[in-house]
Amino acid sequence: MEMFDLIILGGGPAGYNAALKAGHAGLKTVIIEKRALGGVCLNEGCIPSKALLYSAKVYDYTKHASQYGVTVTGSSIDQKAVVARKNKVVKTLVGGIGMQEKAAGVKVVFAEAMIEGKDSEGFKVKAGDEVYCGKQMLLATGSMPVIPPIPGLREGVETGFVMTNREVLDLEEIPKEMVVIGGGVIGLEMASYYNSVGAHVTVIEMLDHIAGPTDADIAKILLGNYQKKGIDFCLKCAVKSLSADSVTYENEKGELVTVKADKVLCSIGRRAVTTGYGLENLNVYMERGAVKTDEQMKTNIPGLYAAGDINGVSMLAHTAYREGEVAINNILGKKDRMRYNAIPSVIYTNPEVGAVGETEASAKAKGYDVEVVNLTMNYSGRYVAENEGGNGIVKVIVDKKYNRVLGVHMIANYASEIIYGAAMMVETEMTLDSLKEIVFPHPTVCEVIREALFEVK
Ligand code: NAI
Repeated sequence: MEMFDLIILGGGPAGYNAALKAGHAGLKTVIIEKRALGGVCLNEGCIPSKALLYSAKVYDYTKHASQYGVTVTGSSIDQKAVVARKNKVVKTLVGGIGMQEKAAGVKVVFAEAMIEGKDSEGFKVKAGDEVYCGKQMLLATGSMPVIPPIPGLREGVETGFVMTNREVLDLEEIPKEMVVIGGGVIGLEMASYYNSVGAHVTVIEMLDHIAGPTDADIAKILLGNYQKKGIDFCLKCAVKSLSADSVTYENEKGELVTVKADKVLCSIGRRAVTTGYGLENLNVYMERGAVKTDEQMKTNIPGLYAAGDINGVSMLAHTAYREGEVAINNILGKKDRMRYNAIPSVIYTNPEVGAVGETEASAKAKGYDVEVVNLTMNYSGRYVAENEGGNGIVKVIVDKKYNRVLGVHMIANYASEIIYGAAMMVETEMTLDSLKEIVFPHPTVCEVIREALFEVK
């Protein structure tokens, strides 16, 4: 049995980043991963989807080139080549993490881990033929797609008719008719991709709006943009059953409607992975199916930490990175705590949605005295130059009492790259007066945020 300062279960963003930080800080660390380093984010989530979406964007440019005075003839998409390129991108990045772990002195074990328990020596974990003992342990086993008990859904997953976030990234043939169940982040990004490359896409969403907690005005603009591009949205519709080639849903009038499909994507949320690896041997406190953590990422068991999707707080890779860092800092005895009020979120549709902090609705519900500035993106010269017919906006939510920014929400190209600047405004709680002294580059899309600050009365 080999002794370690720290055992990390799961090699996704929470686990692999925590392992790097721990290794560099001199902790003897082992990370156990049953599939590939990088987890869902790198292998079947964030990165592969962005590779596909970039191919779609390039293709879209060729389709709309004439609006910019450019003639392109005969452009087409080669789905097999798109998927092959995506695989190349993933391979490069996964290999990079392996090399970084090695450089940090972290032992990487590729095996299925089984927690045997905790005794006076520490946490005992079996992986392959070995038992590892760690003085401390970090759980970072991530999340998996929710597959609800809708008749025909599980059978569809087994036959390949129904895809999850994993299979949808590897389709080598573009379906003619694609049904997406769930109009959240995964559903919208994949609907965007398959719409761009020529599939007819129908999105079935239970709520009366898409994009979940996104600001209502922005969700409406996104919906309009995608309706214009030809995606059919069935809102306030709940899927009732699936056959071998169709999906039946109930609409808001209570009528049952059946749509034919070649492929279905099930993207109705994810749940923490807490079973199948002996977690029950530790008596960890759970809440709503996820491991409960405090702001230092500690669980109720001394020496046991959890970071990433497993705690169900904010299922985003960048949250996971930070939670992993907070856990390691606390293991090292450094003061650090997790704050969730300034975590940016992005939907990589075209146009992109970028958001951070309170929405108009959430700020009002929390009792803030708010002022909301809602500006058209046409205030940005660069936006107008690059977006024929674009109807993006930026919304800045200001706390009038303390004269600071509570939230920024935008729908525009580059929103994903811009939003971290807004996150700094929210996180640092700088006053509007100080923010107004910051010079933004011109001409850029981001300078609309500066314009919005000056619109606050
Ligand atoms: P989600 O929670 O974002 O959206 C699920 C949607 O499905 C909701 O709008 C819900 O109302 C709807 N729904 C639930 N049951 C339904 C039913 N029976 N019929 C019709 N609609 C139904 O979940 P999603 O899209 O699966 O994403 C999972 C996680 O992955 C999220 O936590 C998300 O934050 C993360 N993610 C983040 C990305 C990003 O940051 N760009 C990209 C992809 C995923």
